[in-house]
Amino acid sequence: MKTLFYHVVAAAAPILILLGANTNGVGAQLDTLAKRAGKVYFGSAVDNPELGDLPYKTLLSNASEFGQLTAGNSLKWETVQPARGTYNFAGGDEILALAKQNRQLFRGHTCVWHSQLAPWVEAGRFSAKELTAIIEDHCSRLVGHCKGEIWDVVNEAFEDDGSYRKSVFYNTLGTQYFETALRAARKADPNTKLYLNDYNVEGINSKSDAYYTLIKSLIAKKVPIDGFGVQGHLIVGQVPTNIRENFQRFAGLGIDVAITELDIRMVLPVTPEKLEQQKRDYAAVIRACKAVKRCVGVTVWDYTDKYSWIPSVFKGEGAALPWDEKLQKKPAYDGIASAWLS
Ligand SMILES: *[C@@H]1O[C@H](CO)[C@@H](O)[C@H](O)[C@H]1NC(C)=O
Repeated sequence: MKTLFYHVVAAAAPILILLGANTNGVGAQLDTLAKRAGKVYFGSAVDNPELGDLPYKTLLSNASEFGQLTAGNSLKWETVQPARGTYNFAGGDEILALAKQNRQLFRGHTCVWHSQLAPWVEAGRFSAKELTAIIEDHCSRLVGHCKGEIWDVVNEAFEDDGSYRKSVFYNTLGTQYFETALRAARKADPNTKLYLNDYNVEGINSKSDAYYTLIKSLIAKKVPIDGFGVQGHLIVGQVPTNIRENFQRFAGLGIDVAITELDIRMVLPVTPEKLEQQKRDYAAVIRACKAVKRCVGVTVWDYTDKYSWIPSVFKGEGAALPWDEKLQKKPAYDGIASAWLS
């Protein structure tokens, strides 16, 4: 099979180049290639309003391109429990149903996070006992609602210097809230993969060191944890060089690693040179995941520049994703494909 495959690549390559098509050989899509490389999925985040865009939705629903979907916003606390005890799963259910229909995995995002948090959680001045009960209720409702899937149970719990983020959760409960949230999630569904998730933890640094120490201590206390989610909001030309080593040390703790929100942004305008660098950068990230057995999958934070969050948050930057605004594949797409194949 392997030999035949390479023969096909060799024979097809000149024709593909002639046509200016993608050079990933047999024209296989990204989830197919990820699975061939031994991974569980290649996926994309999606936000509900985008589902009204039919060409977008059609490509998102192609399970050989995307084997996994993440609800970009609709399961965040402010949306899913806007008032105490009032749950709203409408948006999350729409994406969950789409994933099921397409036979894609679903990643829940996220139970406990300081941002996009419903104001009542901070305004309530809850005691440790009350806030513990609130976290237990919230995480068990969310995870119980999307059974058998993957969850970012705690999101962005550290500052870049490796200190604990002074959220209402930390300020009220100290580090105990990790255990509370993870145990509630596990109780709600023993089959869900439970993750901690953060940004600026791709390489080895103070922040990823802090996660390493925390996860090690959680495991020692037999707190359920299945994986470390590395968001992967990166910058063209500035991809850390020790991603593989970082992933390897978390794998060494006996947990999975996943790249959960990958995008690689550039200063606009787009130039051919920047697109080529971006292609190399995507390839480098994919190769790091490919090289570590416990790196189970990669998710881009939406797949097209049309719906990227970058321009609204980083002024003058954008073009961070593998498909452009017109849903055309960029060189980054070939970078990903060829890295899975390499
Ligand atoms: C997914 O996309 C590829 C490439 O365009 C196409 O060949 C394949 O038929 C699509 N699959 C589905 C299920 O639409």
